[in-house]
Amino acid sequence: MTSVRPPRTIMSFALLCALVSATGVAYGRARALPRVVELTITAAPTRLSLVPGGTTEVLAYNGQVPGPTLEFREGDHVVIHFRNRLAEATTIHWHGLHIPAASDGSPMDPVKPGGNHDYVFDILPGAAGTYWYHPHPDGRTGYQVAMGLFGALIIRAADDPIASIPEKLILLSDNRFTPRGVVDLPAEGSPQEEVDEVNGREGNVLFVNGQVMPTIAIRSGEVQRWRIINASAARVYRLALEGHEFLQVGTDGGLFEHPVPVRELVLANGERAELLVRATGAPGSRAVLRTLPYDRYVPQTRPADWNVPRDLLTLQVSDDAPVAALTIPARLRPIPALDTTKVTARRFIVFSQGMINGKMMDMHRVDERGRLGATEIWQVENLVGMDHPFHLHGFQFQLLDRNGVPEPFRAWKDMVNVRKHETARFVVRFDDYAGMWMYHCHILDHEDHGMMGILEVTPTRR
Ligand code: C2O
Ligand code: CU
Ligand code: CU
Repeated sequence: MTSVRPPRTIMSFALLCALVSATGVAYGRARALPRVVELTITAAPTRLSLVPGGTTEVLAYNGQVPGPTLEFREGDHVVIHFRNRLAEATTIHWHGLHIPAASDGSPMDPVKPGGNHDYVFDILPGAAGTYWYHPHPDGRTGYQVAMGLFGALIIRAADDPIASIPEKLILLSDNRFTPRGVVDLPAEGSPQEEVDEVNGREGNVLFVNGQVMPTIAIRSGEVQRWRIINASAARVYRLALEGHEFLQVGTDGGLFEHPVPVRELVLANGERAELLVRATGAPGSRAVLRTLPYDRYVPQTRPADWNVPRDLLTLQVSDDAPVAALTIPARLRPIPALDTTKVTARRFIVFSQGMINGKMMDMHRVDERGRLGATEIWQVENLVGMDHPFHLHGFQFQLLDRNGVPEPFRAWKDMVNVRKHETARFVVRFDDYAGMWMYHCHILDHEDHGMMGILEVTPTRR
């Protein structure tokens, strides 16, 4: 039995800068310089055992799949020395982070094979949450992620109201292998390639932190905080834990204002969630976390086994006596509403099969132009009969409504799964960072085939 082992965390290069005291000034408190976190990430081919029975040629960050879990704190100054030792161009994109465009790792800034690049950014206050990182080269993201390049990124806040609750990382991915254990990528022009282009590539092997069907240990009555990341290229998970309810406390951009009870959770590819799980089973019992059927497909390419639930992990309740109930804070943090009366632009994004507003991605074309500091409403309409998860780089937004039905509560999101024939609206404010920002469908095959656009945010002239 394997227990859930989070991918190794790198923090060893963290340099804690000296606290500089405010010399002789009457402000009382010493002010700290930002903590500088400096680390090196190398992307390179290697061989690893992903599935039992041999090793597989993979691409890995620092020799591991998934890559190391990165942990930062609000206020950190981060310097990542990236070394591309792949045979092709790549980038590292810090999915969901609000950082300068120059360090966003978008397809506009490829790192050549053999090349190096420093990603430098500050983690601003309020950023605490669950994120992830992955390559974002032009047209090759799906391939590089399938080969093993992805990892978790956690940002912590000093005033996290539930910091004392034990935490588990659940990084979800799936993959497909040949009978000899090699990552199975469809041959060009094959029927499988056509199916993958429509559905996005799904794998029949489901991984949690790179392991198949691991076990999480818990004590009866204990509450754990699960940080869940959907790093799959296309698979949408509908998570349910036998005999348990969840308390959802957060999503892409961190904690909610209040915990929300949920029986199950739909998590589209690219999305994250934070759940509180209380083991209600007796000592010695177990429960399985499953993904239930979720129909995101067009009928023509819907997989034959789409309606079969799949097991993800076992929650094993220890033999120890139950622990006493824990009080969960009713208020987590305030999420100030973006002011929709300040909206200066409304944008309309229309998804048709493979295209945005009737166009394919062109790296040399700006599709939308916005102003630094502007508040805007974006309406994303899905014309077709399959889900397309929309993602915006650089800025967290607040979902307003879906098909005109107001969202029940506020949250910070960088993804919205726009379901079949659905229209979603969100409000966003372009704070702090001008530059070129991608927005796209996060089904990696769709993204690679051009279902992406460019937003240019320009500084306001005085
Ligand atoms: Cu997760 Cu444009 O990416
Ligand atoms: Cu992103
Ligand atoms: Cu799509």
